[in-house]
Amino acid sequence: MATIFDNIIELPNKEVKDQTDSLIGFEAKFDRIYNNLKLLLDQGSLSEWSKKHHKIELPIIQQLKEKYPLIILSGDAGTGKTISATAIADRMTRELKKEGFFLKLSTRVRGEGLHGEMGKLVNDAFSQLKEQAGKRRLAFLLIDEADAIATTRSTSQMHQEEKAAVNTLIQKIDEIRELNGRAILFMSTNRVHFIDEAILRRAAIILEFKRPTKDECKELYEKCLNGIDFTDKELTELAELSIGNNEVIGYSFSDIRLKVLPEALAKAYPDRALTFEIIKQTIKEVSPSPEIK
Ligand SMILES: Nc1ncnc2c1ncn2[C@@H]1O[C@H](COP(=O)(O)OP(=O)(O)OP(=O)(O)O)[C@@H](O)[C@H]1O
Ligand SMILES: [Mg+2]
Repeated sequence: MATIFDNIIELPNKEVKDQTDSLIGFEAKFDRIYNNLKLLLDQGSLSEWSKKHHKIELPIIQQLKEKYPLIILSGDAGTGKTISATAIADRMTRELKKEGFFLKLSTRVRGEGLHGEMGKLVNDAFSQLKEQAGKRRLAFLLIDEADAIATTRSTSQMHQEEKAAVNTLIQKIDEIRELNGRAILFMSTNRVHFIDEAILRRAAIILEFKRPTKDECKELYEKCLNGIDFTDKELTELAELSIGNNEVIGYSFSDIRLKVLPEALAKAYPDRALTFEIIKQTIKEVSPSPEIK
């Protein structure tokens, strides 16, 4: 199992929860997904509810099963797709008072580009997913950077084996519906227009991720620098310097958290305090990561 997954996490998980708490704008995204999927995910309880209140299982509950437990996370680099998949999974298990098992398909394996192997990889990943899904347990699979594997079959340069792998993937997405909401598939991509149409059509929800707005930047600086007394005006100024304009793109969440602030910190440490001026200076020096189109 270790060979095809580069991350296996048991949920709920305290570390994931702490990480989730540091995310800006997570609640709104989670609410959208949860409202869309909660009936699907909790079919057991729904069926009990139906029998209790209506003596039978209502036909609409059967029809829910036709929905695909597929969530597509789409957006530019460093906007939080990968980190949000685990966060959403963790939160779902908490809301539903269940346990969960999170599998992240290794990009390394796909990176080797063994086309013939792709179909086998998909098969193996889904059989693990099925195995892990239990009555009290939800099983999540993340296919990160899914465009590498789920590319639209309409491109002519595509190899037969690659097309076959996409077909297998579609078939597997159809099959996991039989698990009555106990298995959930995430696919992340920064090139959603490359993803096969049949897969897009199956998604219960396509969640869009963007670079932070001014308010989100401000919130991020405030959160990361909590403990330093920056004025509201200073935080606003940092945010204004971080977002783009008509000509240039602004920072991604990851640019601020993993580039700007660590560089600023390195400037201050070990002899000086971290100041507004240091951060401002660093913003001048660090350019935003290029946009992926
Ligand atoms: N909403 C957010 N609030 C705060 N920090 C965030 C947020 N989203 C992302 N980050 C930061 O950005 C980092 C990168 O996020 P992540 O790896 O999920 O991006 P991604 O969208 O998967 O990018 P890529 O397309 O390059 O894989 C995270 O480790 C986190 O520090
Ligand atoms: Mg990612």
